[in-house]
Amino acid sequence: MSDIKIENLSVQYLGEEEKALDDVSVEIKQGEFVAILGSHGAGKTTLCLSINGIVPNMIAADMYGIIEVAGEVPPKIPVRELATKVGSVFDNPEFQMSQLTVFEEVALGLQNLGVDKETIEKNIVGALEMVGLKGFEDRSPFEISGGQQQRLAMASALSMKPQILVLDEPTSNLDPIGKEEVFTVTRKINQEEGLTVVIAEHEVEVIAEFADKILLLEEGKITKSGTPQEVFPDLVDIQKDIGVRVPQVTEFASKVPNKFSGSTPVTLNEAIESYKK
Ligand SMILES: Nc1ncnc2c1ncn2[C@@H]1O[C@H](COP(=O)(O)OP(=O)(O)O)[C@@H](O)[C@H]1O
Ligand SMILES: [Mg+2]
Repeated sequence: MSDIKIENLSVQYLGEEEKALDDVSVEIKQGEFVAILGSHGAGKTTLCLSINGIVPNMIAADMYGIIEVAGEVPPKIPVRELATKVGSVFDNPEFQMSQLTVFEEVALGLQNLGVDKETIEKNIVGALEMVGLKGFEDRSPFEISGGQQQRLAMASALSMKPQILVLDEPTSNLDPIGKEEVFTVTRKINQEEGLTVVIAEHEVEVIAEFADKILLLEEGKITKSGTPQEVFPDLVDIQKDIGVRVPQVTEFASKVPNKFSGSTPVTLNEAIESYKK
């Protein structure tokens, strides 16, 4: 079953001459882990915000084409309502915090929806557990680490029981430990809870391990899509042009192709397996 269906989608912010998304088509199935790659300004954020409805409902833009997300048409329903189907996590966790305690922070979205107290408590406990923040209920969101803040933002999104989680460069402001924490939780949510994950992310080594599918955006167009194994080897020679790095192991293997059997490896494990002794 497809969770996200996008056909010939174009988005143009008001007053802008260029389209931020230009005739984008993609289908994402339930439970898929999809990574969006692209240089600064390629349209990654616009694609994320089109999926969660913030564009055009909160940031004005002209939108053309077809977009269906979890059976809804995002421009046609309030962002707050769509949040029960599509959770969102952004790049700067601190900007997403507003409450005095971790518990209240997660409760906020549910309270806004008018959910009853018992359900709120149950959902919060479950969401904090999922992101590894059980026991943090009374802490201040502003006094925990960046990685913990970002996991808190994930808990807030997850408390609404969405079937899709959209993450826009969630680790770009985190230290290596924070990045690792967020990736671990993201993978767990995808694998154990079965959520569809759409993530804009620069850590290509992690994408190579986790992603079922990569979408490469260039100037608002999807110019490549496929598995990491299909996409990364094709990018080795154009990394500078597209502003996207490939995994180091892929770059290395492409320089000494006769050392590896089969297709070019994208993860260390693949490289070890295909290395010709
Ligand atoms: N709110 C906005 N108003 C006008 N133009 C915008 C807005 N947000 C992004 N853009 C433009 O849309 C294009 C795509 O931006 P964006 O989706 O943020 O790319 P990315 O996330 O890949 O860096 C860029 O040219 C950017 O300048
Ligand atoms: Mg962006």
